[in-house]
Amino acid sequence: HTEIKRICCIGAGYVGGPTCSVIALKCPHIIVTIVDLNPARIAAWNSEDFALPIYEPGLEDVVRQTRGRNLFFSTEVDKAVQEADLIFVSVNTPTKTSGVGAGYAADLNYVESATRHIAQVATSSKIVVEKSTVPCRTASSMRTILESNSRPGCHFDILSNPEFLAEGTAIADLYNPDRVLIGALDTPEGAAACAALSSVYANWVPKERILNVGLWSSELSKLAANALLAQRISSINALSAICETTGADVREVAHAVGLDSRIGSKFLRASVGFGGSCFQKDILNLVYLSESLHLPEVAKYWRSVVDMNEWQKLRFAKTVVDNLFGTITNKRIAVLGFAFKADTGDTRESPAITLVKSFVAERAKVAVYDPQVSHDQIWMDMQSACSTPKQELSKQLTLHTDAQSTFAGASAIVVVTEWAEFASPNFDWEGAFAAMTKPAFVFDGRGIVNGARLREIGFKVVTIGRGENL
Ligand code: NAI
Repeated sequence: HTEIKRICCIGAGYVGGPTCSVIALKCPHIIVTIVDLNPARIAAWNSEDFALPIYEPGLEDVVRQTRGRNLFFSTEVDKAVQEADLIFVSVNTPTKTSGVGAGYAADLNYVESATRHIAQVATSSKIVVEKSTVPCRTASSMRTILESNSRPGCHFDILSNPEFLAEGTAIADLYNPDRVLIGALDTPEGAAACAALSSVYANWVPKERILNVGLWSSELSKLAANALLAQRISSINALSAICETTGADVREVAHAVGLDSRIGSKFLRASVGFGGSCFQKDILNLVYLSESLHLPEVAKYWRSVVDMNEWQKLRFAKTVVDNLFGTITNKRIAVLGFAFKADTGDTRESPAITLVKSFVAERAKVAVYDPQVSHDQIWMDMQSACSTPKQELSKQLTLHTDAQSTFAGASAIVVVTEWAEFASPNFDWEGAFAAMTKPAFVFDGRGIVNGARLREIGFKVVTIGRGENL
């Protein structure tokens, strides 16, 4: 098989950036160039002070070791494509907002234009790897586009190699993946391309964890994995609602059922709901796929996972209002955390957006603090969620650079993201209590605060999934 000497990655986002930085670290003999059309993003990756465009524990260290050695970030897409033996396509595939399948189907515009671009500029044969999460059979469209537009003598092999990293633990996940999935056509060329990509991963991933499957299985496995993960969250969240009204404790229930080896203990934490750029998008994609395959029952089944998640977010918002005597108008609500989960600065589909939006709609004064998310990002998210300009919104919404300053005169603290800071024994809950109006409430949307300690201080505490509230 071809020996891979140069890799190009199209798309310098949450997937392309960490994935290819780790490849560069683990494969010093391979030159890796990550390209993007967005010059600001590339400039941030190249910034002297390593002010990288995404926050991910351990990422800066990897980039410090590799950047300028065998890892390069560039806006020169053509050059990087021409020089590469293997090209990862890691561009965004958001949910379509208009046209056929709007609200469900993946927008493949970015994948298609990146693919067309490869065909247009490539002057030699390439292995093209689909890294983005795409609907089943996208590889087939990519192959048609490449074959219909390539120069004579240029041959393209397509592989599917979905990414299973989780934001917040991306570097650890990439160092030690449960599996690397490579889908290829069942042809000698497909097998050779698959062997070439396998040999890249084999530099650090044990051989038995590199799985070769058919192209379509590979594509569908990514959607299936995210659907099953999200389904576990919606399942435990559905149970959390039962716990709250029966007096059961969802932590105990999760622990008890998780000890069953057929169920397993991971991903059974009740919360205010899942967020992130992938779960909802990929399930809706699966729903759309099922509909197009004339399988409405299957579509309805997966759709309910997203519906449960929406309901959980709104249910939690309602819990806040109900406990604050039915109204939060003009009351100050301190929101701790805005990222969709801890250890990332990513806010895409964050439950915080839904919660803050509903507090604003109730005409509360909302004070938000997150240790990683930039204020610009929060303003952007909230302006677009509320369809209200910043100037108007700022009458009700204030953003803070520390937790304590959100508490002055607040009626309630709402813990939205499970940042370690909020669960730390050093967190100044006494100071918070002193600064707030009474009764002072804490609504824990992640089950991370020490309820007993807070009640001792004087707080009324409501934790998602616990019956012994207040
Ligand atoms: P992102 O939006 O952070 O990054 C995509 C980048 O591609 C952007 O910077 C954009 O400017 C660039 N781009 C788009 N079209 C381009 C073109 N033609 N040429 C050059 N650059 C182009 O998206 P993210 O989060 O990295 O996701 C990428 C894909 O990976 C998506 O399909 C997503 O579903 C999938 N994925 C994401 C995971 C995550 O945790 N974020 C995990 C696993 C898969």
